[in-house]
Amino acid sequence: MDISSFSSHLNLLITSFLLLQCLIDCSSANSDINTDRSSLTAFKSRISFDPHNILTKNWSDDSNICSWIGVTCDSRYHRVTQLNVSSMDLVGTIPPEIAKLSHLVSLDVSENSFHGPIPTSIFNMSNLQVLDLRNNSLSSKLPFDMCKHNLHKLKRLRISYNELYGEIPSSLEGCSQLEYLSLYSNNFSGHVPSQIGNLTLLQQLSLGANNLTGNIPREIGNLTMLQLLNFGDNKLSGNIPKEIGYLSNLQSLNIRVNQFSGAIPTTIYGMTSLMYCDFALNHLNGSLSRDIRNMTSLRRIGLENNNLIGEIPKEIGDLANFERLSMCCNKITGSVPREIGNLTNMVGIYLGNNALSGSIPKELGRLVNLWELQLKDNYLITGSIPKEFGNMASLTYLLLYNNKLSGAIPNEIGNMTLLRELRLYNNSLSGDFLSLYIL
Ligand SMILES: *[C@@H]1O[C@H](CO)[C@@H](O)[C@H](O)[C@H]1NC(C)=O
Ligand SMILES: *[C@@H]1O[C@H](CO)[C@@H](O)[C@H](O)[C@H]1NC(C)=O
Ligand SMILES: *[C@@H]1O[C@H](CO)[C@@H](O)[C@H](O)[C@H]1NC(C)=O
Ligand SMILES: *[C@@H]1O[C@H](CO)[C@@H](O)[C@H](O)[C@H]1NC(C)=O
Ligand SMILES: *[C@@H]1O[C@H](CO)[C@@H](O)[C@H](O)[C@H]1NC(C)=O
Ligand SMILES: *[C@@H]1O[C@H](CO)[C@@H](O)[C@H](O)[C@H]1NC(C)=O
Ligand SMILES: *[C@@H]1O[C@H](CO)[C@@H](O)[C@H](O)[C@H]1NC(C)=O
Ligand SMILES: *[C@@H]1O[C@H](CO)[C@@H](O)[C@H](O)[C@H]1NC(C)=O
Ligand SMILES: *[C@@H]1O[C@H](CO)[C@@H](O)[C@H](O)[C@H]1NC(C)=O
Ligand SMILES: *[C@@H]1O[C@H](CO)[C@@H](O)[C@H](O)[C@H]1NC(C)=O
Ligand SMILES: *[C@@H]1O[C@H](CO)[C@@H](O)[C@H](O)[C@H]1NC(C)=O
Ligand SMILES: *[C@@H]1O[C@H](CO)[C@@H](O)[C@H](O)[C@H]1NC(C)=O
Repeated sequence: MDISSFSSHLNLLITSFLLLQCLIDCSSANSDINTDRSSLTAFKSRISFDPHNILTKNWSDDSNICSWIGVTCDSRYHRVTQLNVSSMDLVGTIPPEIAKLSHLVSLDVSENSFHGPIPTSIFNMSNLQVLDLRNNSLSSKLPFDMCKHNLHKLKRLRISYNELYGEIPSSLEGCSQLEYLSLYSNNFSGHVPSQIGNLTLLQQLSLGANNLTGNIPREIGNLTMLQLLNFGDNKLSGNIPKEIGYLSNLQSLNIRVNQFSGAIPTTIYGMTSLMYCDFALNHLNGSLSRDIRNMTSLRRIGLENNNLIGEIPKEIGDLANFERLSMCCNKITGSVPREIGNLTNMVGIYLGNNALSGSIPKELGRLVNLWELQLKDNYLITGSIPKEFGNMASLTYLLLYNNKLSGAIPNEIGNMTLLRELRLYNNSLSGDFLSLYIL
């Protein structure tokens, strides 16, 4: 056999091999795309109302499913990899057949009106990385073994704003690639499972606006990548675990509206990335530490409606980015620190319903961006209203009633052209109110 004849034999061999290969591959690809088609058809058949006729018109039987709106296919295998029907005002239920889209990486049905249960088959989709069911009316439990089997690639799970109930499954630890988990605004009850501490890649964790009880597990301190943590609006109790202070990348911490008691753990003052911190509406006691000066990123702190005592640390004046101090309705004593006047980004100071005394520092007049100043119902604040207040060009609400202020109301108040509410009653103020008529 000469070289050319050998090469033509080889060519023939390769060609037949490729043909054979295609007979196997191409037919299996066809049957797979047909599986995908029947999954999508099942999905469409469960839509009871499609007000903009999107699927009704576009998902037609005689067109390629890869051209359907919201469907993305893999260019190589021609399999459906993404289904995104977000914000189409669809009404319907989610069929279990959806899970037969075996190459699906991303499923987004958010911002529609899907009701009924989340089919458990969804938790078997081994390629899924994104599952977004936000803002529907889905109502079921999460299966106790939801992450035990196949969700090993899941990075993003968003089920917020639905009507799910039951306990948060401890098997969540099996979804070890999770970076984003939101169960916000559902009706979950029971405890926060300690196994949540195993999800060490989490960057955002939101369990707020549910019916959770018990303590925050100490294991939360293991989630060192966390940037956002929201436990707000639940029925959680006990102390705030000191381990929360170990979350050195945390930027936003919300535990407002719960039943936490005891003092704020000192570890919190070591959180140098924290910008937004909301502890309002709990039963916290003790006082704020001067170490608050260490929280160099802090912009807003919400402490209203607790049982806090002690004074406002003047070190707050060292926080260059600070914007909002909300401490109304506690048992704070001492006076308003003049150092707050150094914080030119301040937009709100809420210190009403405490036991503050002393006079109002004239330095507050430097706060040209301040929108609301609330010192009402302290009963003990004395002295006069500083004329420097006339510089607070953004001030819209000035609530100083129920105190012991005296002297004349300064004419400069008339410079506050944005003022909408001025309440000064139950003080011993005097003055020419005519000059205030320009308000
Ligand atoms: C469905 O929508 C896609 C994208 O807008 C379009 O390319 C396709 O032609 C539409 N198909 C039908 C049957 O209307
Ligand atoms: C789905 O589409 C919307 C736009 O309609 C987009 O904002 C959203 O990010 C998409 N979802 C995913 C998971 O890509
Ligand atoms: C999930 O997959 C397992 C096998 O991996 C199977 O035994 C089980 O029935 C499946 N569950 C659902 C709800 O499809
Ligand atoms: C949820 O979707 C509805 C429209 O279906 C919208 O009015 C509502 O504002 C959305 N809620 C949230 C929290 O995004
Ligand atoms: C929490 O549970 C109580 C009863 O246990 C119920 O009355 C209440 O509506 C629930 N809250 C939410 C947000 O579902
Ligand atoms: C939440 O669940 C509780 C039982 O755990 C039930 O009594 C309550 O009605 C539910 N609330 C809502 C808003 O679904
Ligand atoms: C969860 O973390 C604990 C240690 O904190 C470890 O013993 C356990 O094996 C972890 N579980 C999984 C599923 O990785
Ligand atoms: C997780 O946190 C617990 C309690 O704080 C601790 O005992 C455990 O060693 C931590 N596990 C890992 C893997 O860091
Ligand atoms: C704070 O409350 C706890 C109980 O929650 C109590 O044991 C402690 O004595 C209180 N501390 C102060 C300073 O009132
Ligand atoms: C705050 O900073 C000071 C000085 O660097 C340090 O001694 C102190 O331990 C810090 N406090 C906290 C709670 O991190
Ligand atoms: C802050 O304010 C105080 C008192 O008003 C003043 O003595 C101090 O120098 C100010 N600090 C800075 C850094 O501006
Ligand atoms: C503020 O009001 C006073 C007294 O009414 C007036 O003399 C002064 O010019 C005003 N300042 C500004 C900046 O408008």
